[in-house]
Amino acid sequence: MLKDIALNTLPGLEDLPDEVTIPGYAEDHPWIPNQDQNYVFRKDDVRVVLGHLSTPSPEGLLLTGPRGCGKSSVVYQLHAWLRRPLVAVSGYKQAEFEDLLGTKEIVDGDTLTMDGPLVQALGTPYCTFLFDEIDRAAPGVSVALNSLLDGYDLVHVLDSGRRIPPAEGFRFMSTANTNGMGDLSGDYNTAHVLDTAFIDRNWVHSVWYPTPDEEFRILRGAVDPDIADDPIHRSIRLANDVRYLYTGRDNEASASGQALGVSGSIETTMSTRSLVMLWRVMMLFPNVDQPIIHALKLAVTNKCTPEGAEAIHRLAEAHFGDG
Ligand SMILES: Nc1ncnc2c1ncn2[C@@H]1O[C@H](COP(=O)(O)OP(=O)(O)OP(=O)(O)O)[C@@H](O)[C@H]1O
Ligand SMILES: [Mg+2]
Repeated sequence: MLKDIALNTLPGLEDLPDEVTIPGYAEDHPWIPNQDQNYVFRKDDVRVVLGHLSTPSPEGLLLTGPRGCGKSSVVYQLHAWLRRPLVAVSGYKQAEFEDLLGTKEIVDGDTLTMDGPLVQALGTPYCTFLFDEIDRAAPGVSVALNSLLDGYDLVHVLDSGRRIPPAEGFRFMSTANTNGMGDLSGDYNTAHVLDTAFIDRNWVHSVWYPTPDEEFRILRGAVDPDIADDPIHRSIRLANDVRYLYTGRDNEASASGQALGVSGSIETTMSTRSLVMLWRVMMLFPNVDQPIIHALKLAVTNKCTPEGAEAIHRLAEAHFGDG
């Protein structure tokens, strides 16, 4: 049922030795996510997620970080490439723990319990349950997972207290834009404070945007081959300048970004997701007036204040000329 998969068959991990393997499903399983052929695995994140997948202890893994930096996709794509089933749900304000357990339904006059996503995942060997955007669900929902993360069976309260022991290889992972302390940035205003007793039962790994080299490889895979490398590099420098203006972290900012002298002063950032979107729009509309500004508006600046948009457009003009 399982076979060893060499990690150096995954894009971005080619230089690992052949002996580094991890077991995945030998046969198909409907819950194995689809592979993204342009995905680029980033070692710092992969190391943590694989370490967590391989550890036999019950604690969870919480991936935190800004929007569009690669938290959900690293979990989906590792499961896709390692051929492991993944059951993913997203948190939202009205979510309840019972939604994870199942529903009661009346079939031909009988009341039946239909198993929900967590119960199904627990019963499937080497399956991971991913609670995406866990900070958008009320803290009571995640706290109800505490005993599972301590290694105890789940008690199915909708089904007469049936006990559900985790199948071999079961893992619990979650993602959040905040690190559980609530929205400190003003960007994620629907985020809740997570209970520290829940956080304490998780490894917490902070994901950040890819390095310029990693982001180049990501975009090179997403952008038509007839587009030269140079404009792709320029767009990455632009994104890093916007990130600098947003965070004040100057490690990747260009001279033009720093020269604006407004670090930490704009309210939006530019994610890897929006960079990929920017290129999709530019490829679709190459002949409009100022294609970069046109694409920036659709992907980034129509979503922020006029002052933020103006600063980003000025930066784009500095990086791309009037193109
Ligand atoms: N390593 C990568 N290789 C290829 N594409 C990537 C990679 N990381 C991110 N992307 C691109 O960025 C998009 C956003 O990534 P992802 O959904 O993982 O972000 P996220 O951190 O979960 O964001 P959010 O907080 O908004 O949920 C992906 O759909 C993909 O297009
Ligand atoms: Mg996500």
